[in-house]
Amino acid sequence: MVKIKKPRYVEKFSFGNEGSGNMLIFGDNMEALDSLSENYSGLVKCIYLDPPYNNGEKYTHYNDDKEHKKWLDDITKRLKMLKPLLSEDGSIWISIDDSEVHYLKVAADEVFGRKNFLTTIVWEHRTSRENRKVFSNNHEYILVYAKNPEKFKRSRNLLPATDEILSRYKNPDNDPRGPWQSVSAHVQAGHAVKSQFYSIIAPNGKEHKPPNGRCWIYNKEKMEREILNNNIWFGRDGNGVPRVKKFLSEKVVGITPETLWLGSEVGTTNTAKKHVLSIFPTSPVFDTPKPEQLIKRILDIATNEGDIVLDAYLGSGTTTAVAHKMKRKYIGIERGSHIFDLVVPRMQSIINGEENAGITEEVGWNGGGGYNFYDLHPEEINEHKRIYQVN
Ligand SMILES: C[S@@+](CC[C@H](N)C(=O)[O-])C[C@H]1O[C@@H](n2cnc3c(N)ncnc32)[C@H](O)[C@@H]1O
Repeated sequence: MVKIKKPRYVEKFSFGNEGSGNMLIFGDNMEALDSLSENYSGLVKCIYLDPPYNNGEKYTHYNDDKEHKKWLDDITKRLKMLKPLLSEDGSIWISIDDSEVHYLKVAADEVFGRKNFLTTIVWEHRTSRENRKVFSNNHEYILVYAKNPEKFKRSRNLLPATDEILSRYKNPDNDPRGPWQSVSAHVQAGHAVKSQFYSIIAPNGKEHKPPNGRCWIYNKEKMEREILNNNIWFGRDGNGVPRVKKFLSEKVVGITPETLWLGSEVGTTNTAKKHVLSIFPTSPVFDTPKPEQLIKRILDIATNEGDIVLDAYLGSGTTTAVAHKMKRKYIGIERGSHIFDLVVPRMQSIINGEENAGITEEVGWNGGGGYNFYDLHPEEINEHKRIYQVN
């Protein structure tokens, strides 16, 4: 039997407040996940995975060219280990592109159950045209599964209302309850009861009948009460079709997340690369970072402050950077030595409040917090001596 390696705390690379509970783990995610299974079972609210896509590329920081079956077996094993870590209302979001998405979907269905599949997000990862290819591939996918879709639905957040949505709330009658928008006062007659068919008499005496095939939303008694309470709008001149006033102050105004995520809203690979380059102007470019805004949208939907977020393919550290700025707890796992060259300094400048890019301004991040660093097998990497400064 293979012995589970226990992550070793490394003070040298840990930073800031020690009691934060945040973890960066240097090592293969299979081993790291093994070691987490004991203490984190059922506790992780959101898992984000951005694995190598198996696109045949050799990037500066890692290779992305496994034999298809081996790639699929490897990721399936990891999904199996991740599943028990999810909380009952937890969700897992997996980035992938065209070449393996369909195989990954079938594998993930088997692990998480088809009924727990929520959706496929299409992310516009580039906005420029690639003329050298037959098709200029402008999108990637994010497969989303819930541990339990009903529980996830109850706990997931709406996205903040846009200025455009808020601007629909106005106050043409100077109502002391503040801005409102109006919705139709009649509904389909299909399931109506008799008491919903009558004529409304407006305050100016005008009679309104429901249109053909429709009935009023309330019965006559309730409608008269609502008119008295100034909750029904008859237009500026009092002659309009009756509509129901909905007040901004009484609503949780938010929008249901859609499945098409545009680069202009959540960033592109290019904007993410520029961001990483702005933090490390002299280091080799990390080729496949995700934009902070993309991860923020996922965490906005799937988590609240204090929830645990896990990323088992951390790369340049986008997930932990965003989770930190959004005051989520996090576990980030990365086996490449770029965890030292990119992730550690990125996190440290966030904790020091020195980094002013990505979502920093949007969330009002000023610095603070910390993380603990752990490793599993540093002796195995070539650069071990340089990084750990041992002889
Ligand atoms: C596509 S990149 C992730 C990029 C990341 N989302 C970002 O924004 O920077 C995939 C990363 O997974 C890492 N990786 C691949 N296999 C791994 C494994 N078995 N354990 C831990 N990390 C792994 C690679 O070294 C690479 O940094």
